[in-house]
Amino acid sequence: MTLVLGIETSCDETSASVVERRGAEVVLRSLVILSQDVHRIFGGVVPEIASRAHLTSIVPMVQRALGDAGLAPSDMDAVAVTHAPGLVGALLVGVGYAKGLAAASGKALVGVHHMEGHLFATSLDQPDAVPPFVALLVSGGHTMLLDVPDWGTYHLLGTTRDDAAGEAFDKVGKLLGLPYPGGPHVERLAATGEPRRFRFTRPMLRRDQQPADPDFYDVSFSGLKTAVRLAVQDSANLADDRAHIARGFQDALIDTLVAKTMRAVKRHNRPRIVLGGGVACNTTLVRAMQAAADSLGARVFAPSPRLATDNAAMIARAGLFHFERGVRDPLDLSAFAQRPIPGLQPRD
Ligand code: KG4
Ligand code: ZN
Repeated sequence: MTLVLGIETSCDETSASVVERRGAEVVLRSLVILSQDVHRIFGGVVPEIASRAHLTSIVPMVQRALGDAGLAPSDMDAVAVTHAPGLVGALLVGVGYAKGLAAASGKALVGVHHMEGHLFATSLDQPDAVPPFVALLVSGGHTMLLDVPDWGTYHLLGTTRDDAAGEAFDKVGKLLGLPYPGGPHVERLAATGEPRRFRFTRPMLRRDQQPADPDFYDVSFSGLKTAVRLAVQDSANLADDRAHIARGFQDALIDTLVAKTMRAVKRHNRPRIVLGGGVACNTTLVRAMQAAADSLGARVFAPSPRLATDNAAMIARAGLFHFERGVRDPLDLSAFAQRPIPGLQPRD
């Protein structure tokens, strides 16, 4: 039995969790997530406010995660903490606290890459969501298409050239006068819109693209966002058009993500597709992905909403993987705004 405490403070969620290795199984013992609502007022995350909010909530959140699991720090084998990528001030709160806890309790410290956490998240409630798979990570800050032959080996296939998928949802939400973060609101509004009333070009998606082309797997959403802005500006009756514009935007974005993911599944012949990140909460995306995957005989695994958005359970799970492989980080572990996922293979 191995127990890992996970800590996540890379953006605007303060989260702590305990996971346990029990034979072949990994069990989620507890998970608490505190979302910093204050940023809604500003329409985006304010880094200094995020750091201060993490500082006030980190101690009670860890205590709560341990308490919910009925465990003490001395029961842990390791403390896993997100140390990249993210807002450095926010990351430092979690890293500093984890280092203090590891030093005081004599436990191992394991630094975890946030995006590797997202890759592990779905496996916590769906044990079959394991490599080999193609992964599509779509969050507010990142969009990545990866081929994962095994845990710890990550082939980057494509990424965004500009806005992340979640960022595009949030910006379109703002253009349509919806609250921040816009993603869930845009999805709800789009559900009431008609398809093809507004048809936007599928960005960076052409039939004649070849695997060797740099844009075969890459995506780009900034042109789509501009097209939405122009549609909003030109609309003679925005109250009526809003839902149709949201629908046109979401259809274009989803078609693009699904088409690029299917290219990866075909080329790498993978039986599974694992989704991760906040945009994986979008049920329209998940359904479209499964419909396309069906024709290739592949299965789609989407995380439950609390494991899709930022959480410490995925950090504890990825930390457990590294701990079991012998990784122990020194007490001078640092925080990084940007850093490649460990095990990331460059593009061919
Ligand atoms: O993974 P996450 O919680 O945080 C980051 O690491 O960025 O992702 C947050 C993003 C936001 O952009 C939010 O609008 C988006 O996920 N999101 C959605 C939905 N739910 C959350 N986007 C589209 N449809 C949704 N239902
Ligand atoms: Zn995230």
